[in-house]
Amino acid sequence: MDISPFLAELHAAVPLIGPSLLAGDFANLEREIRALECAGVRLLHLDIMDGHFVPNLSFGLPVLAAIRRVTSLVLDVHLMIAEPHRYVAAFREAGADLLTVHIETTDQPALLLGEIRRLGAGVGLALSPDTDVSAVEPYLDRCDLVLAMSVMPGFGGQDFRPQSLQRLQFLRAAAGPSVLLSVDGGVNAETIGSCVEAGAQILVVGNGLFSHRDYAQQLSNLNHLARASLASGRVGG
Ligand code: DX5
Ligand code: ZN
Repeated sequence: MDISPFLAELHAAVPLIGPSLLAGDFANLEREIRALECAGVRLLHLDIMDGHFVPNLSFGLPVLAAIRRVTSLVLDVHLMIAEPHRYVAAFREAGADLLTVHIETTDQPALLLGEIRRLGAGVGLALSPDTDVSAVEPYLDRCDLVLAMSVMPGFGGQDFRPQSLQRLQFLRAAAGPSVLLSVDGGVNAETIGSCVEAGAQILVVGNGLFSHRDYAQQLSNLNHLARASLASGRVGG
């Protein structure tokens, strides 16, 4: 396993909650980040949307660069954008530690993943819930992270799709131990346990965290539920 120290740290820390800042207060991003740091978060999930690949817009390079200036948290950048090859270098330059692209946005996944590797970021590949899981299989050995969407990409606050659990099991079995498995969409106190049991290691949580007044308390609750599922020994199905 040839992984950089921050990836080794992530592996050692799973299951790991990755707060999705999309559900945070955009008028007070630094305050939100400080609150998450104080609550012991290690990784921040940042959703980039372009109004093309997904029917919504979020934020882009200047916001990522501004976040990078105020935190040393691992920045897990989820690119929901068309033509990602045009932008990966700029997102790396702006501060992405992990760069995740969607399989649906490229007809040359190997080249794109190789480019992210060359840029020195952790290499992530995401798939939407209606994409066959076998589509990512040939590329898993080029990845540090595979992200299974458990809602249609584009909006926070949607309900978790239960079929995602079988997809996580498939991906956990197909990916080698050096690949982190991430799940994104509708993860909350009700769904987090089954995601961990199905093999998910990074649990992206938007509304399931930010809708709570006390982030530290909700993170502790989610961490407890995730660890309890890990300890139950049923991980991987
Ligand atoms: C959706 C994004 C998610 C979203 C998750 O396209 O990729 O990261 O913010 O939000 P919740 O947890 O509210 O579903
Ligand atoms: Zn996301």
